[in-house]
Order: sequence, then C-alpha cells, then structure tokens
Amino acid sequence: MATCQPNSPAASHPLIATFNRAGQGQVFAFFDRLDPDSRDRLLAQAAEIDLAEIARLTATLLTPGANTGTDLLGLAPAPYEPRPENGGDPTAWAAARAAGETALRDGRVAAFTVAGGQGTRLGYDGPKGTFPVTPVQRKTLFQVFAEKILAAGRRFGRTPRWFIMTSHANHEATETFFATHNFFGLNPERVHCFRQGRMPAVGLDGKILLEAPDAIALSPDGHGGALRALERSGALDRMAADGADTISYFQVDNPLVRCLDAEFIGWHLLRGSALSSKMVVKSGPEEKVGHFCVLGGRTVVIEYSEPAMQPKLPEKNPDGSLRFRAGSIAIHLLDREFVRRMARGGNIALPFHRADKQIVCLDSAGNPVKPTKPNGVKFEQFVFDALPFAQNPIVIETSRADDFSPVKNAAGPDSPATCRADQLRQFARWLRAAGVAIATDATGLPPFDLEISPLFATDQETFAAAWEKLSPKPKIEPGLYLG
Ligand code: UD1
Repeated sequence: MATCQPNSPAASHPLIATFNRAGQGQVFAFFDRLDPDSRDRLLAQAAEIDLAEIARLTATLLTPGANTGTDLLGLAPAPYEPRPENGGDPTAWAAARAAGETALRDGRVAAFTVAGGQGTRLGYDGPKGTFPVTPVQRKTLFQVFAEKILAAGRRFGRTPRWFIMTSHANHEATETFFATHNFFGLNPERVHCFRQGRMPAVGLDGKILLEAPDAIALSPDGHGGALRALERSGALDRMAADGADTISYFQVDNPLVRCLDAEFIGWHLLRGSALSSKMVVKSGPEEKVGHFCVLGGRTVVIEYSEPAMQPKLPEKNPDGSLRFRAGSIAIHLLDREFVRRMARGGNIALPFHRADKQIVCLDSAGNPVKPTKPNGVKFEQFVFDALPFAQNPIVIETSRADDFSPVKNAAGPDSPATCRADQLRQFARWLRAAGVAIATDATGLPPFDLEISPLFATDQETFAAAWEKLSPKPKIEPGLYLG
C-alpha cells in the first residue's frame, strides 16, 4: 500500500507521522479521501495500537526462520490433586470445601466469564452467551450462569459480582440482552460487562491490514487480554472495594461449569495459590484440550494443536493410562492482585501467539481481497500463559460429568447435542441418587427431556435436600422441569 503524499492532510498529523516512521504508513493510504468522521474513526483505531509491540511481534513471530513453536525438551506431565474417589485425601478435600464455603460467605469471590470469542465454529450469529442450551426451557448460557450465581448468593448469603468480558463486536448486543431479560434476577449494579482489547491483523510481511479505507483490521486480543481488561475496566478496583480477592474464571461455552465451587476455592486459598486450574482426565489422546505440564520447573498448558506435542499425545504410563492425561477445561481461580501485576506488565507479561488466518482486507489499490488461504496473522494472548508467573499454582481434578460439557461445534463432539445429553445425564444422576426411579440407557441418558434449574439445585447434595422438601413430588415424565 502507498504511504501518503507530502503536503496532504495525512502528512501533517503527528500520529500518522509515527506510523510512517514505523513503516506502517499504509494504514493511512486512503486518509486524504476520507470525510472528517471517517478520518476520526481511523485515527481513533490507530491510537489503540502499540507500534513498538507490533514491531516486536513481527520480529519475533513473523521473521522467516523465527521459532514460533514451543521447545518442549524435558516436558513432563503436571502433578494434580486427585478427587477422593480417585485416591485423593478425603480429609484435605473436606477442609478445602469448608474453607471455600467460608470464603463465599465472606464475599471474597467474584465470578468472571470470558465471552469475547466469535463463536465461528458454532455458526451462531450473536453473542455465544445468548445461545439456548437447556433441554426443556431452552435457557441460554448466560441465564444458566446467572441462576448459578443467584443460587450461590441464596446459599451463602452474599451474591458475588459477575464480570463478563465481551468484544467490540458483541458488547452492545450482550448488554442489551441482559437488560431485556432483567439480568435474570441479578442486581444489575452487580453485573458488569466490559470490552476486551483489540490487536491489528498484519500481513505476512508484518504490515498492518485495513479492512476498509477508514478501518483497520482489528480483532480481539485473546482471552489472555482479560488480565489487562480487568485492570483497565476498573473491575479489579470494584472487587477490591467489595473485599473480593479471588476471581472465578470460566468460559462462556460451558453450561455445566460450577461457577462458584467451594472445594476448588478452598484448595486455592489454603495453598496460597495465585492461579489455580481444574483438570479432567482426558477422554483419549485425541481430545482437543490443553494439557497441564511442567516445563523448566514451571507449570504450563500446552495446546493439543502445538506441533511438538503431537508425538507425546499417545504416550502411556506403565499401567496403560495416558501419560499426558491432565486436560485443561479452562476453569481457573485467580488472585486479584496477581492479575493486577500481570496486567501492569513490565517484566511479567503474557506472550502473544501467532494465528495464521484468511483476513478480508484491502490491497494497495484499495480493492477488497477475499483470500482462499491464510494471508495474514492475528495475535492473541492466552490466560493460561500466566501460569509460569504465578506463585504456588495448583491443578485440581474435577468430575467431568459435573463440570464440563462445552458447546463449541455445530455438530459432533462438543456440540449442542452432546451438551444437552450431558445435562440430561446429570439430572438423571441426581434423581437416582435421591432415590427416584428413572430409566436410562447404558450411558446414563434418560429417554426423554427433563430439566433441573440451578435455582432448584446446583449439585447432587443440594438436589437431594430440595427434593426431600418437595411436596407433593412431581411425576417423572417428559418435559419435567424443577425450577
Ligand atoms: C480452549 C483452550 C483449551 C481448553 C478448552 C476447553 C485456548 C487456546 N484453548 O480452547 O486449552 O482445553 O478451551 O474448553 O484457549 N475468548 C474471549 N476472547 C478472545 C478469544 C476467546 O473472550 O479473544 C473466550 C471465548 O468466548 C470462550 C473462551 O475464551 O469463552 C475460549 O475460546 P476458544 O477460542 O473457543 O477456545 P478453544 O479453542 O475452544
């Protein structure tokens, strides 16, 4: 793309001069032709960009021959705290639970959902949190989380604040959705949506791309951008003013998540951990999750897609179990002040990852380019890259059936159909444990739809107590809803 001509309006603007000096003058190639509003829009977008950061990323991640893969020499599986039914110490788990319940009663925990992703794989237009997931009532992901947070408030006497990270693309739609649904019964003053940051996409030569003459190709900076966004939005200060020092982090795609899990919170606090994570034993070598590992003495997550990880995925222990078995389900607890330190950067900052993408953009003549193969790079940060910086990071086992069934794909694994079935299995399990006869197939799936609201129960124990009190008992039949 051409840079601007001398004596043009673009030539005299200081921000544009900075872009020219950085070799990124193509961003303003069409500036002189734009109307004043469009010029302002483009300048405002350009002002968001840290040119030194882009230069550094280009040098480290884009330069031919740059090592973009992770060196996994000496990689070992991370240790984790097994659940009592898998050999963990029941006394330690009971102590963790008691400590977590105290923390919830004391209002020390805030809920936090990362919901800035684009939901491309699901093929759903709109914020993913507005996707209906429950079997009978078709409640949305956001409603399920809202009711879990309300339920925790009723149980522990303090309703945690709920922070939701959106993107520029879905922020307004998310806010409107909550307002239209009266925040699902939560106090609107304690539900906070804030936008994550953006990064420009660059061509394979490191040049920042335009998506329109007055618009830079900007995209969300990854869920790791949450750390900076929590600080910048004032969320951390809000938590501090409330006395909340622990952030319960979960993804928008997983309605089974225990949003406020006393056992997990207790482990995190008792161990003095700055960043704790939940794992499940991988269903098989091919399951597409991150893996908790130790590298150079530090806890790390290595993605399934990491090329150097591929030969390690099928490795087995002598007893036949998978060696790299600790799958990350992207549920974490973060210490508030650890997040603040990470957000402020300096010598502890999250790295960026390179994602090669097909990016719709303009060529140097201003013609639209619709690529058929990757023509550029997006930069993203991942929240789990904070692990190596965290004090006493711990990994805790959880039960997959009670914590993880994400909606990621339109069909096949991790789809609305698998998630619906997992919810039904959970509801049937709770009924059976409470002594109710309900037919299921060999996988525990009942033959008809039913639903238990988080406002009725959030786990087997609370279900048993609520069921016991219920009089008269409802008939177990298709469409049963306990709310
Ligand atoms: C993610 C994890 C993977 C884990 C799996 C569990 C990564 C790279 N991998 O995979 O280790 O095993 O979840 O389900 O994260 N998001 C934002 N802003 C962004 C990008 C994403 O808020 O810029 C949010 C999404 O809305 C979603 C979450 O982050 O809630 C996960 O993003 P996604 O890209 O779907 O991750 P996965 O590849 O599924």
